[in-house]
Amino acid sequence: MQYFSTSALKQFEMFKIAAVGLLIISSNILSSGYKFPDGFMFGASTAAYQIEGGWNEDGKGVNIWDHLTHLRPELIRDHSNGDVACDSYHKYKEDVALAKDLNLQFYRFSISWSRIAPSGEVHKLNPEGIAYYNRLIDELIANDIVPLVTMYHWDIPQYLQDLGGWVNPIMSDYFKEYARVLFSYYGDRVKWWITFNEPMETSKAYSFNGYAPYLHLNNTGYYLAGHTQLIAHSKVYHLYNDEFKDKQQGKISLSLNGVFFIPKDEQSQDDINTAERANQFERGWFSHPVYKGDYPPVMRQWVDKKSKKEGRPWSTLPTFTKKEIELLKGTADFYALNHYSTRMVTHGSDPNPNYNPDAEYATFVDKSWPTSVASWLIVVPEGLKRLLVWIKNEYDNPPVIITENGFADNGTLNDFERISYVKSHLNATLQAIFEDKCNVFGYTVWSLLDNFEWMDGYAYHFGLVHVDFNNPLTPRTLKASYQFFKNVVATHRLDDSSFTTQSPEL
Ligand code: NOJ
Repeated sequence: MQYFSTSALKQFEMFKIAAVGLLIISSNILSSGYKFPDGFMFGASTAAYQIEGGWNEDGKGVNIWDHLTHLRPELIRDHSNGDVACDSYHKYKEDVALAKDLNLQFYRFSISWSRIAPSGEVHKLNPEGIAYYNRLIDELIANDIVPLVTMYHWDIPQYLQDLGGWVNPIMSDYFKEYARVLFSYYGDRVKWWITFNEPMETSKAYSFNGYAPYLHLNNTGYYLAGHTQLIAHSKVYHLYNDEFKDKQQGKISLSLNGVFFIPKDEQSQDDINTAERANQFERGWFSHPVYKGDYPPVMRQWVDKKSKKEGRPWSTLPTFTKKEIELLKGTADFYALNHYSTRMVTHGSDPNPNYNPDAEYATFVDKSWPTSVASWLIVVPEGLKRLLVWIKNEYDNPPVIITENGFADNGTLNDFERISYVKSHLNATLQAIFEDKCNVFGYTVWSLLDNFEWMDGYAYHFGLVHVDFNNPLTPRTLKASYQFFKNVVATHRLDDSSFTTQSPEL
């Protein structure tokens, strides 16, 4: 296949190593033997800043990641940036060919706001940026791959950040108008929309220097950024419903992440309450307003109480009007779940700023849980099963698509740990479907390609496909996990025998 830069011989050698590795893995991880239902959708996910490159090409404006990585390279683990990344701005046809060869039903990618509207304001659109996503969408459709499009994956235009970014409530209107552009240009072909990717992580960028724009506004910034994104989401949902849905017939949601919290002592009522509180403060923060209306009661009570105790005139957690609550409720056509890891909790405080101090929980890991190069990514597949059951019980068994799940390593082609991670999480998904009757209809692996992992630069790799970032041609090379996933998509099963007997199609 002409689009892989590595020689066929090298690929074949790799396949042989992969096959041996898989045999080893198959003895370690037991599959439940279930088969994914017909119609179950498999996909792979990427995001604009992480893969596109072309940071200043064809009229694109500067976004917060361009700004931060250029101004403060020392903040990124390897001092790198996304100027070139995987160069998908030029190599998108190769990416689609890789997705096609995996037989994926869909491909999740995000649109760079500053490529569409350089400053973020829609009175000045960038025709070349619009044309790029038209080409990408057309290429996907020509290959029978459904586009699943994220409108915002962490890259707000710098101009809008200078206006305050997500802590400024006016951003919900800017976002709505940006979304109108996307529906108008792409809605004839895009039927699956995600407004926000992981709004909680975006909020961390305002609270404790988590990511660009690298601000330290504590929980005040954290909750304000979340609030604006929720309002923005509801405005976009209603815009679509009122003006586009009849004609375009698409679906909308937002991708929500969060560690899943389980009680440290499963017998302790206090630990059970703490785990539930932690889950409400993370996942419930965005899911509760969308599925049930308003913030989770426990979050409201605890943050209000703490703010009062601190002598503040109002709570750091903003309040929705009655109208806003109504407008937000019911604004997810499906539950889009990003999931990577699980922690045990007990009542207390945690030194890690990723864990909201207002919720008062301390996290623990079981020593038997496998680790990864990313300290946050501890492997707990049964956590995913329990989380799917939690979502089922909490939100009345909504249709769920896992929009991200994946494993970080140092970039080896023989990525057996990734295979083991993906396999065990797919197995947990099967168990949730068949044993717990969870309504899961799709799974998206993060990621198709190795890419720019935010503050960790190119140090951590998540791809099924290796990208050589030291080579200006950014050649792609298939990893063992690519072959594994391809086999799962083809057979809808996790049994290794079918993989190891399959001849390599390289
Ligand atoms: C979540 C984010 O959506 C994605 O951008 C990131 O690369 C992965 N998790 C892995 O950290």
